[in-house]
Parts: sequence; C-alpha cells; structure tokens
Amino acid sequence: MATDPLERAREEFLAALAEAGRDAARIEAVRVRFAGRRSGLLRDLEEALKTLPREAKPAYGKALNELKRLVEERLAAAHDGAAAGGPSRSLDVTLPGRRPVTGALHPVTLVRREIEEIFLRMGYSVADGPEVEDDWHNFGALNMPPDHPARDTQDTFFLAGGPLLRTHTSPVQIRSMETMPLPIRVIIPGRVYRRDSDLRHSPMFHQVEGLVVGEGVTFGNLKATLEAFVHVLFDPRLAVRFRPSFFPFTEPSAEVDITCVLCLGRGCPMCSGSGWIEILGAGMVDPRVLRACKIDPERASGFAFGCGLDRVALLKYRLPDLRLLFSGDERLLRQFEGAR
Ligand code: PHE
Repeated sequence: MATDPLERAREEFLAALAEAGRDAARIEAVRVRFAGRRSGLLRDLEEALKTLPREAKPAYGKALNELKRLVEERLAAAHDGAAAGGPSRSLDVTLPGRRPVTGALHPVTLVRREIEEIFLRMGYSVADGPEVEDDWHNFGALNMPPDHPARDTQDTFFLAGGPLLRTHTSPVQIRSMETMPLPIRVIIPGRVYRRDSDLRHSPMFHQVEGLVVGEGVTFGNLKATLEAFVHVLFDPRLAVRFRPSFFPFTEPSAEVDITCVLCLGRGCPMCSGSGWIEILGAGMVDPRVLRACKIDPERASGFAFGCGLDRVALLKYRLPDLRLLFSGDERLLRQFEGAR
C-alpha cells in the first residue's frame, strides 16, 4: 500500500535507481538520498520508529529491515553494473594498440628516391628546375633553334605569352651549366609534359636526367656510370647495350638497352621476344650546348643521360600498365605501405 511510508520509500527508491541507469554519479546521488548516514531517508524512517506506539514497533521494524536490505543490495548491484559498463574497468592495457592509418609512398616516388640515392653515393647532387620553362632552356640552348625539326617531335604544351611546359628534364642541364662551377655532377628528377595521351602515354610523366661536365669526361665514363647504375637499381646480371642514335643536344648519341629484367634475356612478351628493353637516351654533351652555357668545349667535356622514371617504376615493380601509376587506385598504393 503506497500510503505506508515504508512502501512509499521503496517505490521511490526503485524509481530513482531505475532512472539513474548505469551512471555512477547518479547512482551515488540515489545512495546519498536514501542510505546517506546523516540525512538519508532510511535514517529518517528509523527515527520514526521511536515515535510509534509499542505494539506497532515489531512489524514496522521488520519491514524497515527488509527495506534496508533491499536498498543495500540494489545499490551494490547498480554500482557494479556502472563499473562494468564504464570506461575505467573496460580498459584492457594488454590489447595491441590501434595502428594509425599511414599512407604509402607512390612507386614513382620510391624509384625516384632510390635513383637519387644511387647517384648521391657516386658524388652527384640533386638538381631541379621549373616545370614552366622558356623556349631557350627547353629548346634553344639544347641546340634546337626555332626552325629545328626535332621541336615537332616534342608535342609541346605552349602557354599564352611564350612560356611552355617543359617537354623533358634536359632544360635543367642548361640551368645547372649556367649556374654551377665545374666539375658538375647532377641528377635531375622531375615532371615533364607532352601533348600525348593513349595507352602508353600520359600527358604528364616523369623523367630523370644525369649530367656530368668537367675536364676529360669521356664516353667510357658514361658507359661505366650507366652500367653501375643499372646493376645497383635492377640486377648485377644485366648487360647494358648502346645503339647509335640521335639527339640534338648530344654527339655522339645513343639509345641504351638493358637485358630484359623479366626473362633475363631469354625473350618474353615484355621485351617482345628480343631479350632487351630500352630504358635510356644518352650521349656526350654537344659542344654547341656547352658553348651556349659559356663553357669552352676545348677545356671541358660532358655526358648526359635521360630516362622515363615511370617506365623504370613499371619494370622495377613488375607493373603491367602505365595508367596504374596515375589512376590513384588505392589497391595499388596499399601494396607499397611500409616501403621507403
Ligand atoms: N631529353 C631526352 C628525351 O626527352 C632524353 C635525353 C637526355 C637524351 C639526355 C640524351 C641525353 O627524350
């Protein structure tokens, strides 16, 4: 009967406890309100016992004890529940930590760094230059005067007012020779642009270029350098082959093949059965280029080489398709997580 003060206290207590849920602070507030030593409701009800007529005391006392036990038990249970659900006891310090999401380096970045490191160890420094170039550095100084037919092969993006997007990293050869004292040893990675877009070409791609200029630099030095480079980057078993070729800015010029990295020369679809893969253009810096940079060809000579970084990345990581490199597909990039 709810008019009975004990019964009313019981109902109030249960309601308040239910409302407190698993919130430890609110459960504690309920405890203070009902079971607090100084001013709790139970204490008041105990005081009331003294004022009752004698014959009413035993029944009241018994019911009060039952109520006290109930309050005690329920509060203890509620406290345990709160502790189990709350943060402090659920922290298991033996669990492995959550791994932060880290990105992966792009395969082109990885080969670029590797190539830079190989040449840094050979005493080169890394040079770079602007992607928006002028005609002189991209063409003129590289022995391609305005009417030179080689300009047509470069599919240049011209910008309004004269500048252009560099079609190769060779303009940085010129910038290095214009600004650095001899001897020069630089490795030049960077983005280049050509109006070309199909299965094998992207309008933006990467090249890496090497330049050495000094007294008595020979074609033999070029061969030894490229062989060392290919052996460190790919495999010491690879042979390097020079085929006569032409570039306006080198004389003599060569196209450089290496033994196919997939079949080691036996012949496979990757090398079209030939056993060789072309990876570089190279040659001795043309005397006209030296002169354009105010270097006397009687006193200094040099070699230069350039290659497509993207293609090297495909070969190095055995990727089947250039477009993979520029698709931003995370399934490719995740395979490089942790690589440095
Ligand atoms: N610049 C040439 C190209 O883009 C490559 C090259 C660089 C050739 C240096 C010879 C020497 O095709």
